[in-house]
Amino acid sequence: MHLHRYEKYWLIFGVGTLVVFLSVIGFSAFAMGHHPPSHMATVNPENLSESPPFDEPGLKQIDENTYEATIIAMTFGYEPNTITVPAGSTVKFQVTSQDVVHSFTIPTTNVNMMITPGHINQSEYTFDKTGSYLVLCNEYCGIGHQNMQMTIEVIE
Ligand code: CUA
Repeated sequence: MHLHRYEKYWLIFGVGTLVVFLSVIGFSAFAMGHHPPSHMATVNPENLSESPPFDEPGLKQIDENTYEATIIAMTFGYEPNTITVPAGSTVKFQVTSQDVVHSFTIPTTNVNMMITPGHINQSEYTFDKTGSYLVLCNEYCGIGHQNMQMTIEVIE
């Protein structure tokens, strides 16, 4: 079979970009732990105050270095508004919305979830560095969207 020189270049280029993109996705998924945040668990958004664990939003210690943060997103804030964990802690977030679509985004980390009423979204992150981490909403959710935030304090 005879292939024109330019056809060969295009084949090499096409296969090369495919290999590069699949490698980037593979590295991101397996080495860095990135994954889609969607989760199949559901909850009735109109009845959160009687639906565990959202009847008691807040931080719960699971073992020495692991915490579970149960958070409700709402117009225009999060309940609770601040959580504090020691450096080195892994925090498992479970977040839902009581009204409209929000997000739960911690810049500079891989935590970036769309928060949909009726669904429980989960993600986890290990906070190795101390400091104050801002949590933002990046889904436009109404007139106070730009004020919607909470803080994660990571202490010694
Ligand atoms: Cu909540 Cu934007």
